[in-house]
Amino acid sequence: MPAPVIAARGLVKSYRSKGRPDFVAVDGLSFEVAPGESFGLLGPNGAGKSTTMKMVGAVSARTGGELSILGLDPDRYGPEIRSRLGVVPQQDTLDGELNVRENLYIYGRYFGLPAKVCKQKAEELLAFAQLEDKASSKVDQLSGGMKRRLTIARGLINDPRILLLDEPTTGLDPQARHVLWDRLFRLKEQGTTLVLTTHYMDEAEQLCDRLAVVDKGRIMAEGTPASLIREHSSREVLEVRFGSAHNKDAAERMKGIGDRVDELPDRVLVYAQDGEAALEQVAARDLHPITSLVRRSSLEDVFLRLTGRSLIE
Ligand SMILES: Nc1ncnc2c1ncn2[C@@H]1O[C@H](COP(=O)(O)OP(=O)(O)OP(=O)(O)O)[C@@H](O)[C@H]1O
Ligand SMILES: [Mg+2]
Repeated sequence: MPAPVIAARGLVKSYRSKGRPDFVAVDGLSFEVAPGESFGLLGPNGAGKSTTMKMVGAVSARTGGELSILGLDPDRYGPEIRSRLGVVPQQDTLDGELNVRENLYIYGRYFGLPAKVCKQKAEELLAFAQLEDKASSKVDQLSGGMKRRLTIARGLINDPRILLLDEPTTGLDPQARHVLWDRLFRLKEQGTTLVLTTHYMDEAEQLCDRLAVVDKGRIMAEGTPASLIREHSSREVLEVRFGSAHNKDAAERMKGIGDRVDELPDRVLVYAQDGEAALEQVAARDLHPITSLVRRSSLEDVFLRLTGRSLIE
């Protein structure tokens, strides 16, 4: 095993609030990221993902625990670490007054790169982000997906070994997300270490070699997407809907089918090795769902199983 590029042990961040006890946003996270790996933090709103990313990005000091980025302690080596990372924050921080090319150029200069290097890098990154024909447009005139691509391109201006991406595709349409995923795949192929947060399980499945499922500042489980599903869910899931007035009753009568029956407000889930067989058993109990669907288990199911809640509320 090569030395990890990121190592967190018992990482804690608490926020002071007047008159109330400190609020613990990150509550003892431990994880390591190997060079070239793509690691994800998957969790719902408020889980502490952005707070963790800010500590890893050396822009927010930890309250406790140990943290090492590229072998350096961010408390002591903030500027060194920041100059070697690429950062895509949750909220775009592009300069809307400047055009696309200028945003890249100025950011490079901010890192102290020579003007000539910045010019050349900016052209390369325009191509990478497929924004060549928008190079002279003001950022305010870009679509959400284009802005996100530009932010990622900007994060690459200093050739970082690690790229931190806080919810890279939240709020984008499916096509824009796929374009972004494709760009991130390329980076991964070139050996860039990716650390990303998301509350989209499909994004986590697509991009991450390994994931930590986080909730309320804690890691609930960790592993590859496939191993998490194997450990914490069944092979298949049967989803049946009886209408909102009848789901509860039906779930009660379905007890014992498959590995587990979960009742959600709008449907009943049956976790099973064989979803079709489970459906036959439902029919055998004289239950007749309005709709039924058998699908593979997903990370959403893992999350539901671990926390009792849905990832996207
Ligand atoms: N500067 C701050 N001061 C006080 N509390 C904060 C601050 N920043 C974050 N928090 C709190 O810490 C918790 C974790 O927030 P964080 O932004 O890390 O969550 P997240 O997982 O990124 O959520 P989201 O998916 O909504 O982006 C939340 O309860 C939030 O209100
Ligand atoms: Mg966040």
